[in-house]
Amino acid sequence: MERRRIGASALEVGAIGLGCMPMHWAYTASQQSGEGALRAVHAALDAGVNLLDTADMYGPFTNELLLGRVLRQRRPDVFVSTKCGLLVGEQHIVANGRPGYVKRACDASLRRLQTDAIDLYQLHRPDPEVPIEETWGAMAELVAAGKVRSLGLCAVGARAHRRAGGGLYDTTIRQLARLQQVFPVSCVQAELSVWSPEALDALVPWCAARGVGVLAAMPLGNGFLSGTLTPGQGFEPDDVRARHPRFTAEMMAANQPIVAGLRRVAERHGATAAQVALAWVLAQGPHVVPVPGTKKERWAVQNAGAAGLRLTHEDFAEISALPPVRDSWA
Ligand SMILES: NC(=O)c1ccc[n+]([C@@H]2O[C@H](COP(=O)([O-])OP(=O)(O)OC[C@H]3O[C@@H](n4cnc5c(N)ncnc54)[C@H](OP(=O)(O)O)[C@@H]3O)[C@@H](O)[C@H]2O)c1
Repeated sequence: MERRRIGASALEVGAIGLGCMPMHWAYTASQQSGEGALRAVHAALDAGVNLLDTADMYGPFTNELLLGRVLRQRRPDVFVSTKCGLLVGEQHIVANGRPGYVKRACDASLRRLQTDAIDLYQLHRPDPEVPIEETWGAMAELVAAGKVRSLGLCAVGARAHRRAGGGLYDTTIRQLARLQQVFPVSCVQAELSVWSPEALDALVPWCAARGVGVLAAMPLGNGFLSGTLTPGQGFEPDDVRARHPRFTAEMMAANQPIVAGLRRVAERHGATAAQVALAWVLAQGPHVVPVPGTKKERWAVQNAGAAGLRLTHEDFAEISALPPVRDSWA
């Protein structure tokens, strides 16, 4: 598989990563399967993937524990990226960016992951109660201590914090500029997909100009862009899509032309709609690495296969001409 640099660091990853969140978080708990997920991770690694993206809060903790079983056997094959700064409470998820907490969280992640060092340590969400430089300074100390190799910032929550009239990533870009004064940002994790291209306006170019990598989260539109979901199929209450404005029966039906377009392109290449969606993300810059999430072996392998798919000008033109996404955010 093609390799890509993570930011200005010497660290390289396979062009397609594996998002491990669906194994223990956000998607319905009834479908979680520990051993199946383990097979998916091994299959992805065998297919040339090395970046495994997790977080302490996925589970919480169970996703890192699962990856620890893999790392114990195959540490040289893996670039492990995890996250700190969000705590799962009884009722709410709360941010904690206090330096002492971040350092304890790192030690706990290292234990669960059964490794001496985390390749990429990401701040999951800035804590509004703590200046971001203080949190980042503590993370930089973890690099100095050899517990972490590079640092990243997640900006996946940007949509929820969008201010009227501003760009979706204005706040993120201001935060990144502040962080760069403290310690280099190796990469930013942001939503990027055919139906969520907003990061291309300012964030992805900002990163390209500064040698910062981009991990593209939700590159399959939470599964929608694969075309395997049916409008009106419904989601269990613990699945994020049960409350997601793009996953009502009405919006899923309204957005079918996007899936149909991806399928038309896929047919020309003997590929799947999911692979076309991933190839489109990959083409947005050599610093962009999609991390499609799955707990299924066959999809992990299929997604890795997208690294070899080159879309043509005709394909890009067809995807650009697809109707914009319909949702109640627009
Ligand atoms: N930093 C953050 O705050 C943040 C937020 C969101 C996501 N992320 C990261 O980004 C990763 C990707 O996001 P995501 O997992 O939410 O969304 P995604 O990659 O857009 O889609 C995941 C969904 O697509 C399904 N899927 C995967 N490959 C498929 C294929 N080839 N054909 C059909 N369906 C397929 C999965 O099903 P199964 O689950 O049944 O396998 C899962 O339901 C996460 O795993 C996580 O690592 C980070």
